[in-house]
Amino acid sequence: MRTKFIAGNWKMNTTKASAIELARAIAKDAAPGIDLGVAPPFVYLDAVGQSLASSRVLLGAQDAYHEKNGAFTGEISVEMLKDLNVKFCLTGHSERRHALGESGDLVGKKAAAIYAGGLILVHCVGEKLEQRDAGQTLPLVQAQLNELNRDQVSDPERLVIAYEPVWAIGTGRNATDAQAQEVHAFIRSALTKRWNNDFADRVRILYGGSMKPDNAKGLLAQKDVDGGLIGGASLKAESFLAIAQAGR
Ligand code: PGA
Repeated sequence: MRTKFIAGNWKMNTTKASAIELARAIAKDAAPGIDLGVAPPFVYLDAVGQSLASSRVLLGAQDAYHEKNGAFTGEISVEMLKDLNVKFCLTGHSERRHALGESGDLVGKKAAAIYAGGLILVHCVGEKLEQRDAGQTLPLVQAQLNELNRDQVSDPERLVIAYEPVWAIGTGRNATDAQAQEVHAFIRSALTKRWNNDFADRVRILYGGSMKPDNAKGLLAQKDVDGGLIGGASLKAESFLAIAQAGR
């Protein structure tokens, strides 16, 4: 049985004060029965981590660099994140792939470093609208899954896949329940082929892309949808917790 995981990706939003306030509000009302996490901007990780202390809400990061330390101006290592009590980290978010130009090769290196560092790796995959229209969704998702090193990743509890169709992110247009389930089932079968059935059964596959309190119930009821990666709706404790409630 996979425990559902609802993670908030705050992106480049909040101020220090509003981040603390949001974290406190989420921590205060986080009910058991579901795993919750928030990924604030790097600069607020420490403050948010302190606000979450002694709560069940996991602290996450939106990105990490794959090198351990050194002359990499502006970058943040996995060790630095662990120093601040970070428990999970995203890779391959479409905004990093498409707006910031990250290649699949770089995403793969980051994924390897995050996993090797002992964090929960949340690896994001998903197609653009033109790729969907051209029937390329599944091969594209397969290629993005192939960025993960099969021989390295051995603990299914520390691997989370987030399926985020690019056309659904921040657009208000979510994938239908059936569209999400189709790709999630494909991802699970791809994981079975690459690892094995038991491994694939234990990996949580989140849906992301305009998930809101009013569409969460249907999406989270799908057999292979094990949670959500929430952007816009994670910036208010009320809507984030309502989504978590829908997954319970
Ligand atoms: P959204 O973002 O919920 O605002 O669509 C999701 C994400 O990018 O993780």
